[in-house]
Amino acid sequence: MAQAPKKVAVGVPLIEAKKVSKVFKSAGGSNDLVVLESVDLQLRSGEFVALLGRSGSGKSTLLRILAGLMAPTMGEVICANQKVEGPNPDVAVVFQNFALLPWLTVLDNVMVGLRARGVPYDLAARQAVEAIDMVGLDGFESAYPKELSGGMKQRVGFARAFVMRPKALFMDEPFSALDVLTAENLRSEISDLWEAGRFVAESVLMVTHNIEEAVFLADRIVVLGNSPGRVRGVIPVDLARPRNRKSDAFRRLTDGIYKIMTNPSIGVDEALATKGSNTSLLPLPHVRAGGIGGFLEIIFDHGGGGQLSQFSQMLRLSIDDVMPLVDAVQLLGFADAKDGQINLTEKGKAFALADILQGKEIFRGQILERVPLINIMLDTLRSKNSRSINAEFFIDILDERFSSEEAERQFMTAVDWARFAELLEYDASTRFLYDPSLGGAL
Ligand SMILES: Nc1ncnc2c1ncn2[C@@H]1O[C@H](COP(=O)(O)OP(=O)(O)OP(=O)(O)O)[C@@H](O)[C@H]1O
Ligand SMILES: [Mg+2]
Repeated sequence: MAQAPKKVAVGVPLIEAKKVSKVFKSAGGSNDLVVLESVDLQLRSGEFVALLGRSGSGKSTLLRILAGLMAPTMGEVICANQKVEGPNPDVAVVFQNFALLPWLTVLDNVMVGLRARGVPYDLAARQAVEAIDMVGLDGFESAYPKELSGGMKQRVGFARAFVMRPKALFMDEPFSALDVLTAENLRSEISDLWEAGRFVAESVLMVTHNIEEAVFLADRIVVLGNSPGRVRGVIPVDLARPRNRKSDAFRRLTDGIYKIMTNPSIGVDEALATKGSNTSLLPLPHVRAGGIGGFLEIIFDHGGGGQLSQFSQMLRLSIDDVMPLVDAVQLLGFADAKDGQINLTEKGKAFALADILQGKEIFRGQILERVPLINIMLDTLRSKNSRSINAEFFIDILDERFSSEEAERQFMTAVDWARFAELLEYDASTRFLYDPSLGGAL
């Protein structure tokens, strides 16, 4: 994608929501749904804002209200010192599901908005062709949407928004209907354009439920809470661009936000303040608690340490197969591995010597100190009156970071360790987690 350079005065309020609430009325009036409650939000010139929230938190509703496509029940939206009372011509929207008109060609889809504004056909067509070039779809002007891949359809979605030359570009989960690689390509192109200062719009408001995406792209992240949607906090993203997902600062920030998203009751500042070194959500190695215990005992029985190759031979496993065990015992602080050697720590020796009950207690202590994912699960459980929660709650969140299959495996590994430590109970038939201290939940 390529755009003409553009100079922008940074920091001038462009669009502002003031105490916006939205209630969807039910037929009888008894089941009115309060979706947004007193939301204040400012989009300033020159900034990229991400609106982050879980499914159903009212993100799309807020985006529509800010774009003037829907009226708030209470409060108002201000743009250029005026109350917004209909579709805002300074805003163009890119939708998750592209929202192309199937009976129109790419060119006609891109022209629709200009024609509705009364731009003469020839001029509209010229500008549309330019916009189609910008998004890399040169040559596809006369194709129909059904002939295009998902990624190409979304490129048309971007062209249709770009051609309007909006002051603010709104995007509602623009990459989430695309496969991972296509989404990543498009995301990088958008971020390159933004970083080069060649973006068509002065400001961007992007709705997403993907934490990494928000941290990768945004200058500020507005976190929306659920039921009803209200702003839980605003997080500035002060990371240098281009952003490096692998940097410690990037990880720390995503971990902090992850904690916020998994703890409905925790304060945003509090979560980010406790982002200390041992909260990093490293993937758990897929080994069972019983396997960890067995491995520690073998090392203990052979002098408390030695060559990894020696232990893998003893177990008749390849080094690769032993590595998850090595990762797990290190993560839990039971052993140190370096240069092909592994040695038990004092904790590791104590665990190997302990009887079952003492062993569980040592394991529990190490988990509480060193495994953030399980701590998040426990905090969330304890914040619920019922002291129980559905597995899908965590898997949904793990999905943002891992593939679906890996999210499920991470969850099951965490459950296995936490169960061994008697920190929680899990009913596989209902897929509910329980706090065992409640007693008799199962
Ligand atoms: N027109 C409508 N009439 C009644 N209820 C609605 C309407 N639009 C949305 N809702 C409800 O309002 C709530 C918030 O919806 P919204 O689409 O804004 O959430 P969202 O945060 O965008 O969710 P998602 O991440 O799933 O897109 C949901 O419970 C939804 O069912
Ligand atoms: Mg939505």
